[in-house]
Amino acid sequence: MSDVAPTITLVGRLVQASNATFLATDPDGVRHVYKPVAGEAPLWDFPRHTLARREVAAFDLSAAAGFDVVPPTRYLDGGPLGPGSLQQWIDPTDEVLCDLVGLGDLPSGWFGVVVGVDADDKDVALVHADDDRLRRLALFDIIVNNADRKAGHIITGEDKRVVGVDHGVCFHTEPKLRTVLWGWAGDPLTDDELALVANCIDAVHEALAPWLSDDEIDACRGRAEALLAAGVWPEPGDTWPMIPWPPI
Ligand SMILES: Nc1ncnc2c1ncn2[C@@H]1O[C@H](COP(=O)(O)OP(=O)(O)O)[C@@H](O)[C@H]1O
Ligand SMILES: [Mg+2]
Repeated sequence: MSDVAPTITLVGRLVQASNATFLATDPDGVRHVYKPVAGEAPLWDFPRHTLARREVAAFDLSAAAGFDVVPPTRYLDGGPLGPGSLQQWIDPTDEVLCDLVGLGDLPSGWFGVVVGVDADDKDVALVHADDDRLRRLALFDIIVNNADRKAGHIITGEDKRVVGVDHGVCFHTEPKLRTVLWGWAGDPLTDDELALVANCIDAVHEALAPWLSDDEIDACRGRAEALLAAGVWPEPGDTWPMIPWPPI
């Protein structure tokens, strides 16, 4: 995206979204997802009217630390429905990296996360691939404390890059990591992963200062420092829900 805020035109509303979320185009015909602050559904645990800022914070930290797992996202002061976040639309390919499958159908090399029953009372397993691109996204989620990493928020683009979308409920000061990507729990972090975490510690203040409170920035830095010191992927605990609902 250029430095100049584009004038956007609304094309449609994304009906599967939990907030008022719109597909928009800029004058070059590039598509974006526009989330006006005024359309944010109130949440009991996040301060009102802060979700768009968290979307931009996630992009800025991902870019500054070299994760590159969030599509370009900016804050639009003068959107058609007021201020909000504007994120580049990524055309999804049909690659599936996280899925619900029958109990006997775990793809070889994939991780099983949890089992349950679907709407027809059939036993199903939530599974995800053992894929380095996914692993990078999962590592980012730990640092930003993502409270809603579901399968539908993971997109493989035409360039084969894997990105995450919907970072409105990240960066809470309290632990809230809620994700479908638990496959690497307990594994040691690789040297590359440790370097990314260290980059975050260096980048966190400058990247997040325009968007988050000092407490939220300190908490983010603290999570990165704890991860670097531990050197292993965290395990799911039992003090808050660890899997988003619905997971897909
Ligand atoms: N940048 C994007 N590129 C492609 N698809 C997207 C993008 N952002 C959102 N989507 C799609 O739109 C759906 C709804 O958007 P989401 O960010 O989840 O909105 P909400 O915050 O309202 O829940 C997502 O599940 C995803 O399928
Ligand atoms: Mg969503």
